[in-house]
This record gives sequence, structure tokens and C-alpha cells, in this order.
Amino acid sequence: MSALPALPSEASAPAPAGMLTVRKLRKSFGGFKAIDGVSLAMAPREIVAIIGPNGAGKSTLFNLVTGHILPDHGEVLFEGRRITGAQPHDICRMGIGRSFQRINIFPKLNVFQNVQAAIIADRGKGSRLWGRSAALFGEETMALLESIGLADYAGATSGELSYGAQKQIELGIALASQPRLLLLDEPTAGMSARETRETIALLERIAAERSLSLLFTEHDMAVVFSIAQRIAVLHQGRLIAEGTPAQVRSDPEVRRIYLGAGK
Ligand SMILES: Nc1ncnc2c1ncn2[C@@H]1O[C@H](COP(=O)(O)OP(=O)(O)OP(=O)(O)O)[C@@H](O)[C@H]1O
Ligand SMILES: [Mg+2]
Repeated sequence: MSALPALPSEASAPAPAGMLTVRKLRKSFGGFKAIDGVSLAMAPREIVAIIGPNGAGKSTLFNLVTGHILPDHGEVLFEGRRITGAQPHDICRMGIGRSFQRINIFPKLNVFQNVQAAIIADRGKGSRLWGRSAALFGEETMALLESIGLADYAGATSGELSYGAQKQIELGIALASQPRLLLLDEPTAGMSARETRETIALLERIAAERSLSLLFTEHDMAVVFSIAQRIAVLHQGRLIAEGTPAQVRSDPEVRRIYLGAGK
């Protein structure tokens, strides 16, 4: 599956065989260090959580990985290939999908159309196909809706559905590009307890079925500790701890800074 050739990075060391490698990333906004020397590596099929207080830099780190912002220093490698500086749509096409912290769908389109649009956009067939797009990728769109449990809502207006269902549409949009690495920014934020449980089960199933690597941020520690195989803790732009859930849970600094306050 790792068909992308390894391009030479600025260092002469051999490219790592992992899924994602973040090396010494730094990003400041007007002198404020939002990401301050973060390094991180993920293996294929790993499920990794990034946790940390509000403003720790979690979304910024995601934006650096997906090319939505450029780092001041450091680099990101995907399957051994340097992607720093590439455009977000190119990074998406290489195999990194993402969902955003804020819902990012077309509210007036129905569920089918939202996911279909993402599939058409990914397959890159050009704008001339949009005019007769209703029939395009119909089976593929329905298959994807089936797999994320939204087939019954295919004709429903997206913006009128529950928050949880809208997040599911986002997941469908992110999966349309058939990513091998999926970044989810607070996938259960704002959900009811029931929606949260269903979303966790869905994510675990999708990740297993599609052999995905998952990198997610989350404030709900029950979610984090139930699905993450590894947890990295960000605080003021720096990684202060990284390890298995058990290691992170018992880390004195993490307890003091983050988990201690009843989280
Ligand atoms: N484009 C930007 N311009 C200026 N400052 C920014 C920008 N993006 C993020 N920041 C700042 O960088 C810091 C980190 O923000 P970020 O959104 O990455 O935090 P976060 O960990 O995702 O927080 P939350 O848990 O609230 O989502 C914050 O202080 C934020 O105000
Ligand atoms: Mg955020």
C-alpha cells in the first residue's frame, strides 16, 4: 500500500518507514509560540490521541500536518515522504484525511450530496462533470454512507440533522479520499453521551476495516482512554509526555498540569 516513493529530506538520515513523522516543528503567531519543538512518530494502524488544555496547540499541530499552515521550523513526513510545504489538497490526495474542530459541511445539501461531492472532488475528474453529477459515483457514495451508518439519512438535509449526525457526515467526507491516516479534531465534542459511545464504536470499526492510522484530539478523557493506544500530551506548545494510556495516566507532570484538575 505504501506506494509513495521516499523523497530525500533535508537530513541525510534514511527516511523512516512509519506512517507519520513530525520533526521538531515550531510555529509562532506574532511572537507567541503555539508549537514549540514538537516531534512525534506514528506507526501504521496506530491510534494516537493528542491531549492538552485549551490553547495547548493541538489544532495548530493538525494544521501543520495537513498543510493548512506552514511551520517556521521542522518538517512532516508521511510514509517517509516529506510533505512540508505541500498544499492541503495534495496532502489529502497523498492519503491524509481530516475532520475539523468546527463542523465543515454544506448544510443545505443532503447527506448523499455532501459525501458525493467529496468523492467527486477526490477523484479529480474536473469541473465539467459537475453538471451531470447526480449519477456520478452513486454506488460508491451509498456504500460509504452504509459503512458510516448514514444510508437511511441519504436524502435528509444535512444542516437539519443532529450534531452527531453532522459529525458523521464529516467523517464520510474525510473518508471519501480513502486516506490511510485520519486526523480527527475533537470527534465527539458537543455530542450526547449516546452519540459519543456510538461514534467511538464507529471510529474503531472504520479504523479496523480500513487499516487506518488515527490521530485525534479530544477533551473527553473517557474517549481518549477507551480508544487510544498511545497518548501524547501537549502543554503550551510542547510535548510534555508520551506513552501508553497507563504511562500517561500515572505521569506526575501530566497529573499536575492536566489530569489533576478532575479531567
Ligand atoms: N491563526 C492564528 N493566529 C494567531 N494565533 C493563533 C492562530 N491559531 C492558533 N492561535 C493560537 O495558538 C494557540 C494554540 O491554539 P490551538 O487552536 O492550536 O489550541 P488547541 O489546543 O487546539 O485548543 P482547543 O482545545 O481550545 O481547541 C492559542 O493560543 C491560539 O489562540
Ligand atoms: Mg483545537
